[in-house]
Amino acid sequence: MQILINKSVAFVVTMMTVFAVEAVAQGVSYQRVADMLYLVLSADRAVYTEKVVQRLTLDEQVIMVSEHFEDDAALPLPSQMFRFGSEYVADETEDFSYSLVSLDPINKKNGPGTDLEREGLEFVVDNPDEAFYGEEELGGQLYFAAVYADIAVAEACASCHNNHQDSPRDDLEVGDVMGGVIIRIPVE
Ligand code: HEC
Repeated sequence: MQILINKSVAFVVTMMTVFAVEAVAQGVSYQRVADMLYLVLSADRAVYTEKVVQRLTLDEQVIMVSEHFEDDAALPLPSQMFRFGSEYVADETEDFSYSLVSLDPINKKNGPGTDLEREGLEFVVDNPDEAFYGEEELGGQLYFAAVYADIAVAEACASCHNNHQDSPRDDLEVGDVMGGVIIRIPVE
């Protein structure tokens, strides 16, 4: 009997520990945070490209889109909008950062910057519906990193890149993977 009681106490303690561990695990994971951030980023990116750039430039032809949007009084490129957002976030917090990169960049600065970025980009080119997750150490800090396929959601994406003089590709089509969004979160 004594043994039985001891066993049940041990069982209760074990279960409490299991519940405690589960409760910690139920906190939002790095992966889930990255997935949620990506959803917002990609939604804004697609909406800007389709509802602003594509509609006002290609469809209704009321304004141009230009890399030199200030001089040309034109719309900024979708990638510029994305970068301005990421710079804004970088000024506000070190809790996360993000960028847009590609294996075939128009701007060489947008090529993969680390081994993980290259590996992630290669993965999403082959698996556009899946994200790539990993960890990497940069400057003595460990980061969780997620890479998501950046897809030509609108005709404007493919046609502008195909016609750009610095683009290594001229065969892009709607639906193709053009690069990747990288989200980094420092691991505490
Ligand atoms: C009007 C032209 C234009 C449109 C439209 C456009 N891009 Fe770009 N994109 C560029 C230019 C120019 C750059 C390089 C900008 C820079 O200097 O960082 C770029 C950068 C990028 C990059 C970073 C790698 C690189 O090539 O430098 C990716 C990825 C990308 N664009 C994907 C897209 C996708 C996806 C869309 C549609 C949602 C899109 N682009 C729409 C012109 C365009």
